[in-house]
Amino acid sequence: MKARVFSGVQPTGNLHIGNYLGALKNWVEIQGNYESIFGIVDLHAVTVYQEPAELRAKILETAALFLAAGIDPKHSTIVVQSSVPEHAELAWMLTCVTPVGWLERMTQYKAKSQAQETVGDGLLQYPVLMTADILVYQAAVVPVGEDQAQHLELARDIAQRFNSLYGETFVMPGTSLPLAGARVMGLDDPTKKMSKSAAGSGHAIGLSDAPEVARKKIMRATTDSQPAVDFENLSPGVLNLIEISKAFMGWGSQQANAEFSGLRYGDLKKKVADIVVSHLEPMQKRYAEIMNEPGYLTGVLKEGAERVSPIAKSTVQLVKERMGLYA
Ligand code: TYM
Repeated sequence: MKARVFSGVQPTGNLHIGNYLGALKNWVEIQGNYESIFGIVDLHAVTVYQEPAELRAKILETAALFLAAGIDPKHSTIVVQSSVPEHAELAWMLTCVTPVGWLERMTQYKAKSQAQETVGDGLLQYPVLMTADILVYQAAVVPVGEDQAQHLELARDIAQRFNSLYGETFVMPGTSLPLAGARVMGLDDPTKKMSKSAAGSGHAIGLSDAPEVARKKIMRATTDSQPAVDFENLSPGVLNLIEISKAFMGWGSQQANAEFSGLRYGDLKKKVADIVVSHLEPMQKRYAEIMNEPGYLTGVLKEGAERVSPIAKSTVQLVKERMGLYA
């Protein structure tokens, strides 16, 4: 039997090349080696207010982007989190074995809660629900970008605590980071992670950005006052452009060195823009085709939920037995 993979994306904002290089690209590459389940985690999205009609539209757009990026629904399952209620049910049981202190230490919680006027309890519980997403399918491998690594350490701590209290129940999930692109930085400010929510039109390259728009953002990306690429002395902005190219092309350091060493920044940016656009264009073409066939998309999601529901149900049943719950 193949080991199971789970990972997810929140259907909020616009997916960007950081999400693609940190997560989706890796999913596509490994999907054949595992029994893969990829989630559109709408229950996570509502930890901060989402306009309902917009959220509903974003769920379908995210599913279409998964397919456009190369997730093959014949081999992998795409599932909307809220359509399998066991995610939320298991999250409660895990909440009860999770010390609040573990949650308050999470750096994403600290950052997100600072940005809110009132902090919903969901924001604190967020990584417990993530843990449930993974454990409900007994996933052994979780391919994510670097910003999720702390949450996955917590997931292992929670799994371990449950196992030691109630007996071996959960598979320990491992973190899988991509070789390049695990942390894509903002183009306008390469000291900050590229993020869906960050303001500023020059910050992120959206997977749906038109080629001219993507090109313009790259040409305006922050670099430094040196004239050309010097691998002995790369500033964060130049390093980020090189990392983006390595991740898209699957290049190692030697090849990146050969391609970019000594290039003037203007030429570097043109080359990076060509690389990015050449990958976005085919994805956008497939995306448009998929969005033109809404029946196909909803069919994939319905089938996805049906396919993985029995796994989730049997895990929750086992957990109930272990905990002595009645149902
Ligand atoms: P989300 O929606 O913020 O991001 C989706 C995926 O994209 C990765 N990512 C990045 N990778 C590289 N550079 C960046 N700048 C960048 N920004 C985002 C993220 O690491 C992630 O892999 N909590 C998760 C979703 C989730 C989940 C899960 C993931 C819910 N349950 C269970 C794994 C397993 C999140 O908000 O991802």
